[in-house]
Amino acid sequence: MDSADIVIVGSGHGGAQAAIALRQAGHDAPILMLSRDRTPPYERPPLSKEYLAGEKPLERILIRPEAFWAERAIAIRLGTNVTEVDWLAHELVTGDGARIGYRKLIWAGGGDARRLSCPGSDCEGLHTVRHRRDVDALRAELDAGARRAVVVGGGYIGLEAAAVLRKFGCEVTLLEMQPRLLSRVAGETLSAFFLEEHRRQGVDMRLDTGVERIEHDGRRVTGVTTSNGETILADIVIVGIGIVAGVGPLIAAGAAGTNGVDVDEFCRTSLDDVYAVGDCAAHANAFAGGAVIRLESVQNAHDMAACVARGIMGDPQPYHATPWFWSNQYELRLQTVGLSLDHDAEIIRGSPEERSFSVVYLREGKVIALDCVNRTRDYAQGRKLVEAQAVIDPDLLAESETNLKDML
Ligand code: APR
Repeated sequence: MDSADIVIVGSGHGGAQAAIALRQAGHDAPILMLSRDRTPPYERPPLSKEYLAGEKPLERILIRPEAFWAERAIAIRLGTNVTEVDWLAHELVTGDGARIGYRKLIWAGGGDARRLSCPGSDCEGLHTVRHRRDVDALRAELDAGARRAVVVGGGYIGLEAAAVLRKFGCEVTLLEMQPRLLSRVAGETLSAFFLEEHRRQGVDMRLDTGVERIEHDGRRVTGVTTSNGETILADIVIVGIGIVAGVGPLIAAGAAGTNGVDVDEFCRTSLDDVYAVGDCAAHANAFAGGAVIRLESVQNAHDMAACVARGIMGDPQPYHATPWFWSNQYELRLQTVGLSLDHDAEIIRGSPEERSFSVVYLREGKVIALDCVNRTRDYAQGRKLVEAQAVIDPDLLAESETNLKDML
């Protein structure tokens, strides 16, 4: 039977960074990374941006050059599906029935894109944007001449994809079932701003609109019938309606978790010697007022991986990392710090009309997050306010000429 001191499941940001952090911390026993993906570890954010746009090839989105892993004696087994976790025996079972032993298991299973489940949703021409292969398939259709696109979902994936499709000259209709965009992650000012921007760029934006069924010719998509009964013709449909955490084998093995897998402040699951990091790890987050959440971001994957590496190396530190995130759409660069969940006030600095502004989110008077559009200085300086949960006069916060760093 194969075995390794550390087995990592998943080769995304969390899995890759766990291996890197362990080696950096001096870990020198065998590390084995298993992944369903068939591509060496790559960055996910560019998939809906520069990689989809064809502006960055695969080599430029690899987390490390391919040779790096072998040089650090990090074994990677691609195309491998882990189907079972036998935590009592400290063994995994893979899709081909092989068993692999471990001393410590790091689960970085991420998630898969949620799919539509309405009539017609299994026909050809529907695409998600989560893995490299998804984007390659979408690119192939664009290269073959697909021009009319319906995007389902007004989260960051849908919005970023819509922006790239407009760059390609596609006719784009975007359907969002909620009354506003980005309702899961941002406040109303930002939702309204992006709605207006996408409209200006020629995207047909439909709010309060879901999908009733996918129309097809027996094989391929021909259109989307919305919840309002209208049929929109389409050559392709891009579905960006969130992710389903990839934790099946862990939960089946008895790990606690209802939305993802639960971890404690050291990223330990309820199973002995099994850690979890990244998108799939539900944790009590201090920046969410202690609420148990999954955070789908590169920052969270990296920082949880670092937390696990410290724990394994005998220097545990509780996870307490400041959340940050970014999105690029058209010429807009959004940078977020903190979590705006449950905010009760939004202060605007600068000018949405001039496309350079920040939204400062408050909860009970404390600064909890900022969304900064083309305002990197606010983003950089705002971090300290978020970390301090600073209480600052809202009128002062709104003075866009006054530096945030001078307000602490
Ligand atoms: N029809 C229309 N809209 C829908 C439907 C539907 N059937 N189902 C969900 N939606 C909308 C939701 O209301 C939400 O606004 O799709 C949006 C999905 O947004 P997210 O949950 O944020 O998911 P997504 O944009 O796919 O992002 C997934 O990728 O970039 C990362 O940080 C991002 O981790 C996140 C992941």
